Order: sequence, then structure tokens, then C-alpha cells
Amino acid sequence: MKNTATFLKMKAEREPIAMMTAYDAPSAHFAQKAGMDIILVGDSAGMVVHGYDSTIPVTLEDMLLHTKAVRRGAPDVFVVTDLPFLTFHGDISKTMDRVATLMQEGGAQAVKIEGGGRVLPFIDQLTEAGVPVMAHLGLTPQSVGVLGGYKVQGKTEESASLLIKEAKQVEENGAFALVLECVPKQLAEHIASLLTIPVIGIGAGKQVDGQVLVFHDAVGYTTGFVPKFAKQYAQVGETITQALEAYVEEVKSGAFPSEEHTFSMETETLQKVYG
Ligand code: KIV
Ligand code: NA
Repeated sequence: MKNTATFLKMKAEREPIAMMTAYDAPSAHFAQKAGMDIILVGDSAGMVVHGYDSTIPVTLEDMLLHTKAVRRGAPDVFVVTDLPFLTFHGDISKTMDRVATLMQEGGAQAVKIEGGGRVLPFIDQLTEAGVPVMAHLGLTPQSVGVLGGYKVQGKTEESASLLIKEAKQVEENGAFALVLECVPKQLAEHIASLLTIPVIGIGAGKQVDGQVLVFHDAVGYTTGFVPKFAKQYAQVGETITQALEAYVEEVKSGAFPSEEHTFSMETETLQKVYG
């Protein structure tokens, strides 16, 4: 299994890191089979799996369940689990307990935490305690209420300077990697060049050290909005719809099940049963 040292080395050797979310055993299985470097059990599960319109309702229990399933599906891939909304503020010892749950029960190798500023002591203390922490700056969806929507971040001089400062700070506080979401490519490139730890972009251009996408976006398994930065490598939703339509049609017409999908038994045995 790759680890935090592997990811540092990949950055140093300019080998891009491929990361994608997964939430269940089959998606994790296919990610492992495809050679994914990192699987993120993202709290985007709230939106793409559970049908919420934000990540705010996601709980630690949700994340634990998804992490366990992902672990079983991809036993050999480095798994990072998101700490969900309001689970890494306030009392650090409570956060420690939550992280212990996700790592010891769930099987995650690391956790991801949104934000800089007041979150920095949490990154520092978790790292000190032996927990690899992935930071997340730029568009931080758990702060959608404060940010006022899902928008590109760091486009003004002030916000760009703050983002650069916070990126350096998460590294100084021990983060082993940084996710940069929805920032102009020029700024993302600059930040990646300033840091030793890998910067993994989503909507941050290609001049960073890796990319992450949400599984459902990448395979076209979505029902609603697909962000501009999400490339769809397949149209699984269309394939599924066609399959389900064919099933409905065959059930109605009686074409399914045919002999091929049916069990049978000896007539002799049946006669004995019926007497
Ligand atoms: O939850 C998630 O999927 C994420 C990625 C967008 C980085 O945090
Ligand atoms: Na997330």
C-alpha cells in the first residue's frame, strides 16, 4: 500500500497522484483495480449517495459505514476519510475519539479536514498524535453557508493572499497533503510550487501534484448538477436506465425470466412430493 512518504516522493518525482472518492465496496474495488493512488471517502456521499443538497447533514456514523465498506472493497489502497461537518472544532479530545473510530473501526489511513485558520491546531495535534491529515482549502463545501454558495475561491488579491498563507500554514502544521478545490489554475500552480507536500486539485487546473474527482461525477452516475471541473469518463446513468427499462419491459412481456435464469427439478421427485 502507498503511504504518506510515497505521496511526497511522487510529488518530488513529478508523478501525478490519482485520487477519487468511493463510498461503497464495489466502487472501491474498481478504484483499486484501476490503480487509484488514494481513495477519498468524501462527505460528498451526502450529496451523491444520500440525496442531500449539501454535505452539512452528513454524520460521523455515515462516514464510518462508508469507510468500512470502502476498506472491504479496496484492502490495498490508502484510504482518507472526511471528518464531517462540525466534528473538528471545539473540544480536540472529542475529535481524537472520532478519528480513532474512523481509523480503528473504519480502517482509514488518514483523515481530511476542511479549512485553515482555527483548524490549524487540530491539524497540528492530530499529526502529533500520529494521524496523517489531509488539508482542504479553497472551496470548502462544509462552509457553504458562510461562503454564500459554491463559487471559485481566491480570485481577488486579498483572498488569494490568504489562501497562499493558509496553504503554507497547513504544511507547517503537519498536513501530509492539501486538496485545493475550485481555485484559479494560476494560483493553484503557485501554491503547489511553494509547498513540499502534494497539492491535489479539483477544479484547480493541471499544474498541481494530483487530481481528485467525485466517483459519481466521473462515471456519469448523477441525477443533478455536474460541476464544470468534473469530466465524465462514462455515462453509467444512461447504461443503468437502459438496463432498467429493458427489465421492466421484459417483466411486463414475460420474456424474463427465461429457462436460462430458472431452476428446475426432477419430475419424479415432484410426483413424490405431490403424492
Ligand atoms: O467530499 C469530497 O468528495 C471532497 C472532494 C471534493 C475533495 O471533499
Ligand atoms: Na468533502
